[in-house]
Amino acid sequence: MKNILVTGGAGFIGSNFINYILKNRDDVFVVNLDKLTYAGNLENLKESENKSNYRFIKGDITNRELVDYIFQKYSIKHVINFAAESHVDRSILGSEVFFSTNVIGTNVLLEASRRNNIEKFVQISTDEVYGSLGAEGLFTEQTPISPNSPYSSSKAAADMMVLSFHHTYGLPVVVTRCSNNYGPYQFPEKLIPLMILNTLNGKKLPVYGDGLNVRDWIYVIDHNKAAELVWEKGKVGEVYNIGASREMANIDIVKLLLKNLNKSDDLIEFVKDRPGHDRRYAIDSSKIQNELGWKPEYVFEDAMSKTIEWYLQNKPWWERIISGQYQEYYKTLYTNR
Ligand code: NAD
Ligand code: TYD
Repeated sequence: MKNILVTGGAGFIGSNFINYILKNRDDVFVVNLDKLTYAGNLENLKESENKSNYRFIKGDITNRELVDYIFQKYSIKHVINFAAESHVDRSILGSEVFFSTNVIGTNVLLEASRRNNIEKFVQISTDEVYGSLGAEGLFTEQTPISPNSPYSSSKAAADMMVLSFHHTYGLPVVVTRCSNNYGPYQFPEKLIPLMILNTLNGKKLPVYGDGLNVRDWIYVIDHNKAAELVWEKGKVGEVYNIGASREMANIDIVKLLLKNLNKSDDLIEFVKDRPGHDRRYAIDSSKIQNELGWKPEYVFEDAMSKTIEWYLQNKPWWERIISGQYQEYYKTLYTNR
């Protein structure tokens, strides 16, 4: 059995990771440590919650005593750190919690990992650490780190710290830097689910600036398969970019969603731009493809239709987010246990 601590496993990517890994493997024991911030939702994990090789612990990665206790109690030998404050717009409104969770929290996990002789520490970083591209070029692992938002600078600090723990202490770390994800269970503050839900609810679709900022989109399961591979086969001390080479301007994403939902472009509303808005992200993922044999499996159009269909089929999931009821689910599961 591989005993893995997955942090932030009640969020969008982490919950997809846990559901995926528990469905496909029986050689892992997963401990999910999640603070259940607004972005954490245990309803994402219904298919995994009763499995014997899964435990959920509500807690903060900045809590040194709790993290130490978990490492000891569950003989943790692998860490996959998804836990983060993850939304750029929120980081602009208030940055403190981003540095507390993303930087201090990662430090707590690294120190515990050092004391407990772990076998692998996977830091789920982001392509946003590279900053912004002009019209040409791609981010490679050699692109200088140059983050522009409080979110991306906190992730860059964590990413550098993780690599320094390899350099200084020989801790077996790997870092992934992935592009923008889409798929089931994404919190409806991010572009794609927000636009889908606004369309379904007859609300305006707020497009920042001229709508021509470009993001490089990847289906969440492709990201998670890459993260699994990096965890198992990634060379320690290395960084791996992950992306599916699917660049889209925001306005084109929004129009594609409207077309799929048979709604008119009249719902689009251009609004004031995000301060410091990065213009373009685009990933060169040839390193993970050549060295580890990964490649994206999902075709963008199919995976996007599947994603839209998921939001259509799972109205109770997002209605409970909008009403705030999703935060009560923890109590129904864990009170009186
Ligand atoms: P998310 O916001 O949906 O989920 C984050 C999870 O972390 C939530 O469940 C939240 O409760 C938990 N959390 C927050 N603070 C915590 C703390 N102090 N202690 C314990 N748990 C805490 O984020 P996501 O989109 O699933 O992103 C997961 C990771 O992937 C993040 O590290 C993010 O930087 C990275 N990433 C995201 C994308 C993307 O497109 N969403 C792309 C590349 C990398
Ligand atoms: P987002 O999903 O917040 O991801 P990130 O900023 O981490 O890339 O935003 C994706 C793009 O969509 C980004 O260029 C900002 C833009 N955007 C809008 O135009 N309107 C919105 O309401 C949101 C949330 C994002």
